[in-house]
Amino acid sequence: MPNGLILGIESSCDETAAAVVERGSRTLSSVVASQIATHARFGGVVPELASREHLRAIVPVVRAAVAQANITLADIDAIAVTSGPGLAGALLVGITYAKALAFAQGLPLIAVNHLEGHIHAVLLHEREAAPTSDPDAQALALVVSGGHTHLFLCRPAHNAWTYSLIGRTLDDAAGEAYDKVAKLLGFGYPGGPWIDALARFGNPLAVPFAFSHIKTKLHLAGKAPRTKAARTAPIANLDPRFLFSFSGIKTAVLRYVELHNLRPEALARAARLFPPKIRNCEPSASESQYKALPPTPPNTKEAALALCPQPVLDLIASFQHAVVGDLMKKTFAAAESLGATRILITGGVAANRELRARFAAEAQRRCLRVAFPTFALSTDNAAMIAAAAWPRFQAGEFAANDLSADPSLALGR
Ligand code: KG4
Ligand code: ZN
Repeated sequence: MPNGLILGIESSCDETAAAVVERGSRTLSSVVASQIATHARFGGVVPELASREHLRAIVPVVRAAVAQANITLADIDAIAVTSGPGLAGALLVGITYAKALAFAQGLPLIAVNHLEGHIHAVLLHEREAAPTSDPDAQALALVVSGGHTHLFLCRPAHNAWTYSLIGRTLDDAAGEAYDKVAKLLGFGYPGGPWIDALARFGNPLAVPFAFSHIKTKLHLAGKAPRTKAARTAPIANLDPRFLFSFSGIKTAVLRYVELHNLRPEALARAARLFPPKIRNCEPSASESQYKALPPTPPNTKEAALALCPQPVLDLIASFQHAVVGDLMKKTFAAAESLGATRILITGGVAANRELRARFAAEAQRRCLRVAFPTFALSTDNAAMIAAAAWPRFQAGEFAANDLSADPSLALGR
């Protein structure tokens, strides 16, 4: 009789994570080693550094997840690992380790799509927090993160789930726009939490950003969109009302910054928030040179607020207001068109407070159910991977020995 314990491993981007989840519905442990400090000064994830950091972290993170679950490896029934989409080198670290561990322990291996994992983060939270909320009902899911802005119709079918792609971004993901705008304005990586924290101090209607209606272009018919996770259904098959595009607003913010000459003060802010580290000094730098460096200011959101003039706060608030408004407009239009009464919002951007508040209010107005993961389960983690693997485990859907990374793995048809 199995214990129903799945060890999940996630390494698709810049978080090395491991978790133990029981029967897809109870988290025994969830450990996440973030690489933010490594990538912050580059303003984005550097793939080679990500692979190196995963190599360093994978063994201690998995050991910590097993220890915190208060079990031993012998209690585990299967190992689940993210097989894509994501960075090839980063994915390979998790996959190689998971394969070796599964082989050594004589356990089955389950391959999980990262996007499916994000969807199961909400289902896991619902099962843990509100088991009576019928987590197995059909739902429209918005996966909105640094790499994805996708709408899926999720249907439960005999202990498994099927996914239909309803809409997606044609270019940047929403989280990518957050990260690029934050970098442009002199904040750290990832940009979402900085913008989230600062937006409430600005006027959201100060800069009227607009999202134009997207038309399916004939010359793109049948082609996959230009995006990082490109291999999915042709956009010609998707309703243009449910297509997103975030590269335009990113450029609009850039133009605004240039026009209002905000760049010099953004650079000055970045220098104050992220002064060069002492270890970056020339090895020949003398002790007196180190002492001459200004004291490191705390790079907290409070420090950032003190360094932001009102026009910058207004720009941030207007950017966020426009992005959340566009996500809402298309998600609710899709729900209405599909007759979906339940909406799941997940992925790193689902941690955004304005997004949560406005989606919840609109859902209530329309008498729809909306659910989010916990803040910890919104960004990348391995509990969602272990939870998504549970139906596969029950169905005996195990990965072949030659499982490899699939950086552009698609979900849904
Ligand atoms: O899901 P995730 O951890 O990784 C990917 O699969 O991409 O999402 C990371 C993304 C980053 O772009 C980050 O800026 C964004 O989620 N993010 C946020 C917030 N927290 C993280 N965006 C807006 N508001 C937040 N509070
Ligand atoms: Zn993710």
